[in-house]
Amino acid sequence: KIAKEDFSAVKISHDVTNRLAHKWRSEEAAILVASNTALYDNPSLTNRLWQGNNPTRLVIDWQLKLPESLHLFDRSVKTIVFNQLKDEERNGLLFYKLSEEKKLLPGLLNALYQLKIQSVLVEGGAKLLQSFIDADCWDEARVITNEEMRIGHGVQSPQLKNNYLTEADKIGHDIVSYYVRTEQ
Ligand SMILES: NC(=O)c1ccc[n+]([C@@H]2O[C@H](COP(=O)([O-])OP(=O)(O)OC[C@H]3O[C@@H](n4cnc5c(N)ncnc54)[C@H](OP(=O)(O)O)[C@@H]3O)[C@@H](O)[C@H]2O)c1
Repeated sequence: KIAKEDFSAVKISHDVTNRLAHKWRSEEAAILVASNTALYDNPSLTNRLWQGNNPTRLVIDWQLKLPESLHLFDRSVKTIVFNQLKDEERNGLLFYKLSEEKKLLPGLLNALYQLKIQSVLVEGGAKLLQSFIDADCWDEARVITNEEMRIGHGVQSPQLKNNYLTEADKIGHDIVSYYVRTEQ
């Protein structure tokens, strides 16, 4: 499980693991979340616990329903809002229109190519991650689990397929597992 039943966020990982996750952010060109995660978690997606660059923030908000008050829209970092309504640039916030079609990945990946964004850390939530997995559009998955925590009923975590484990590290009660994708 990756969140509680009511979508509220749970602090799953140790502070040291969170720092590692911020290091990962500093290593990629961009970081992507979908609308439910943007709304329920209100993440900043910045690299506060490590030195180096902030990745460009990418958010999917088809109908532009997310409130402007979210941290993602604070203009502190370049942010791109993929949507189906408009192309516009406003005070460092870029609205990028994708085709009406609901198939996200081909249009999104083409847009990233046009924007010269060459690496993306997909931070969730479950639906978005599962769509990358189902389309075989991923290179490496980093999965943080906490051995002590039981969420019970909650949002089901995405399910990996066609993969093998390359490394697993223990940080406190956390296990950080690294998987790479295999060809089918
Ligand atoms: N533990 C963790 O590491 C972690 C990380 C991130 C998030 N979370 C949790 O995850 C939960 C949210 O996950 P979620 O699965 O409900 O939502 P989500 O993936 O954040 O967002 C889902 C929405 O994004 C759009 N979307 C995503 N993938 C799409 C695709 N392939 N094609 C078209 N539209 C797509 C759809 O919007 P429309 O409905 O508008 O079409 C869909 O309803 C939150 O409770 C959050 O706390 C946990």
